[in-house]
Parts: sequence; structure tokens; C-alpha cells
Amino acid sequence: MNHRRALRAAVTIAVTGALAAAMTMTLTSTASAGTTLRASAAEKGRYFGAAVATGKLSTSAYTTILNREFNSVVAENEMKWDATEPQQGRFSYTGGDRLVSHAQANGMSVRGHALLWHQQEPGWAQGMSGSALRSAMINHVTQVATHFRGKIYAWDVVNEAFADGGGGGRRDSNLQRTGNDWIEAAFRAARAADPGAKLCYNDYNTDGINAKSTGIYNMVRDFKSRGVPIDCVGFQSHLGTSLAGDYQANLQRFADLGVDVQITELDVMTGGNQANIFGAVTRACMNVSRCTGITTWGVRDCDSWRGSDNALLFDCNGNKKAAYTSVLNALNAGPAIPTTPPPTDPPPTTPPPTDPPPTTPPPGTAGCSASVSLNSWNGGFVATVKVTAGSAGTSGWNVGVTLASGASVTNTWSATASGSTGSVRFANVDYNGRLGAGQVTEFGFQGTGSGAGITPTCTAS
Ligand code: XIL
Repeated sequence: MNHRRALRAAVTIAVTGALAAAMTMTLTSTASAGTTLRASAAEKGRYFGAAVATGKLSTSAYTTILNREFNSVVAENEMKWDATEPQQGRFSYTGGDRLVSHAQANGMSVRGHALLWHQQEPGWAQGMSGSALRSAMINHVTQVATHFRGKIYAWDVVNEAFADGGGGGRRDSNLQRTGNDWIEAAFRAARAADPGAKLCYNDYNTDGINAKSTGIYNMVRDFKSRGVPIDCVGFQSHLGTSLAGDYQANLQRFADLGVDVQITELDVMTGGNQANIFGAVTRACMNVSRCTGITTWGVRDCDSWRGSDNALLFDCNGNKKAAYTSVLNALNAGPAIPTTPPPTDPPPTTPPPTDPPPTTPPPGTAGCSASVSLNSWNGGFVATVKVTAGSAGTSGWNVGVTLASGASVTNTWSATASGSTGSVRFANVDYNGRLGAGQVTEFGFQGTGSGAGITPTCTAS
């Protein structure tokens, strides 16, 4: 090679190199470059979560990864019915509360899982049926959603209620046998108890357009058209060695109904395709503007319920797997959720029930006032009553209601009922009678028949 040619070649290389450097600079300055799942998801307006077994929160190798990589958690078991209401009417929130405080201390949102599911029902509920079970399940939803009110980003209100196989219909269970409206009754109860939480339906084998996902799609469309409060659909995505080609199209058709979608329990069988499948699921979520987040069902392979499938993003020693890199790259390459809000949903055809205004005593007077929020279904209702002390506070209170004819109170919490039909009175229990000026407490009762026309009146002592 003569000098001139050598020089030209050198210049070409230099120019190409400079161009490449410039391009790289442009790329790095415009593209995002999160280095953890949580940062990369957050840059795109989304969350990246993990299912947590609260017993592991004291293992530092576990919490180091959890806190570094995830900004959302869900309880693997601790918020399920058997854990939260092991005996009827006796509630246990230890595990759930622990997870919520861990989340709050570490900037994580919480998915609630699951208010109603045919599995992990406590033994006492497994033995129930009919209206007794309907009452018990609505009470469960009301109590648990009330306990965690204001702390849950989204609740899986109902989990896995559709059957596998070709029919696209409901799964048989004791819950289903209480009547086909059990799902909407549960969503209404959850909305009344925690109006700030997004309410989701969650299921598996819905990873593409198939008979089961279409059955769910039809239910969601029906709920939206009738004003049943549903905000999101969770796709568990416990996956094998391949991914349906229409995975993203399926998410999109639900989003087009006016609900958010989320990947709620992602894990993938190990094997050659694992990293690709994790990446493809992440890309699908990123490409659907109403896909608000992804949760993997555990942190490290050895934390997974799937035994030897090695189905997660970190190996048992906490090392990042190829699947991790694939997810991180997909998060970084994906579009952000548009800042312009998505088109607003058409208003529900039946407006959400508005609570009647409380009969507030004028300021400066003693006494108390009471207002009711009602969740009704065909044949029953749950009333949540808010008691507000007047300016003198209370040392005790008593609330009277008149029930519609045929209605009767079957169950009361945080108050003592006298009578069950007609005029019924509710007195404070020992821990909620003493209220400071303007202080608020709540009690509730459940009834059969119609809850129409309940207007509580409050007297203080
Ligand atoms: C699993 C838990 O991971 C296990 O620890 C438990 O023994 C059974 O339940 N779908 C769901 C999750 O909605 O609640 C399940 O979690 C996995 C399948």
C-alpha cells in the first residue's frame, strides 16, 4: 500500500471512528440507560415487581437484590384468604403488614393478592356454600380491603375464576356455586372498602388469544358496559418454552376495553429460550401503553414455587442470568408510557353509588354524625358506617338505622347490634367509643335482603 492510499485508509477509519463515536454519543444521550430493573422500569413510567415470601425479608442476600432491583412487591401467600382469615371473623394481618412496611420503607408499591380464590381458602370456608358462603366471602373482601386501605396499588380481587380447556366459561368452585354474580359482588365490595386501589381480575393460561382469555375478555367488556368497578386485568404468565405469537395483541385487546393490564406472576421454564421469552414478554408490555408493570413470581431461582425449573432472573447465588439482561435491555429500549393521559373511559352507565351526605351537626355542637356507604348485591348488602364525633368528642356512641322490610342484619363488626330487623341499633365496642372532637371511626354490618334506604342517625354519650 502506498502512502497516499494508506493515508486515505487511515482517514476513512478515523472518520468512521469519529462518526461511530458521535453516533454512540447521540444514542447514549437520548436513550435511557437504567442499570437496575426498578430504575429502568421507572424511567418508562412503570414498575418492576417481585413476589415476596415475608420470611425471607431477614435474609440479607435476598433483600439486597429485592431492594436494589424491584420497586413493587406482592405477597406470595400472606394476603391470601387462609392467611388473613384463618378462622371465620378472626383476621390476621401480620405477614401482610410486614410486607407493606418493607415496601413503604423502600419506595415500593404493593399489589394485593388475592381477595378471593378457590385455592388456599381456609378450611372453614371450604366447608361452606350458598348464601352463608356469599356473606362470608363479601365480608372477607370488605374486611381485608378495609384493613389495607390506602396502601395497595392494585388488588387481585378475584383470582383464577375461569376454566381451562375450550369452553371459555367459569371454573366450578364453591364460590361460583353461590351464583354467577359473585365476581361483580366482590369487585363492588372491594371498591366500597378501598376506593383508591385499582381492582384487577387475575388469571393464568391467558397468554394469547384463546378460549379462556376470550371468556375473561367478554366478562371485562360486560363489566365495563354495566359500570361494575374493574380497573385492570392481570396476566400471570407462568410460561413454558415458547410464547404465543399474539401475546402482545392479547394484552392490547384488553387495554382497548379501557382497563390497565399487568404481567403479574412471570416465570419461564429454563432452557434455550428462557432469556428470549423474558425479553419478548417485557417488550410486549412496553409496547402496550396501558401495561403498567411486570412482576416476577419470586426473586432467585431457588425462591420459585416452580422447583427445579430455574424460572427466574437471578440464580440461587443471586447472580444475574442472561434472562435478566434480556429484560433490562427491553425495558431500556422500550417506549415510556405517554405523558398525555390515555383516552378517558366512557363514563360508567350506572354511576358509582354516592354516599348520602353525613348528617353533620353544626360546628361547635356536641353529639356525633353518621354516614353510610353501601355495597349491595342481589339478596344482600354490606354497610360501612362512618361515625364522626362533634366538637365535644364522645365517650360512647349509638347509631340507629331502619332496615327495609324483609332485610335483616346477619353479622356486625366493630360495634354491638341490638335487634336484627326493623329498627336496629349499634353501640360502640370498648375500643372505639371514645373519640376526640371531629374524630372518625368506622363499623360495619352485613345483611340479607335489601339495604335500600338505610339512613343512620348518631347519638353521643
Ligand atoms: C403459589 C405460591 O407461590 C406457593 O408458595 C403456594 O404454595 C401456592 O401458591 N397462581 C397464583 C399464586 O395466583 O398465588 C400461586 O402462588 C401460583 C399460581
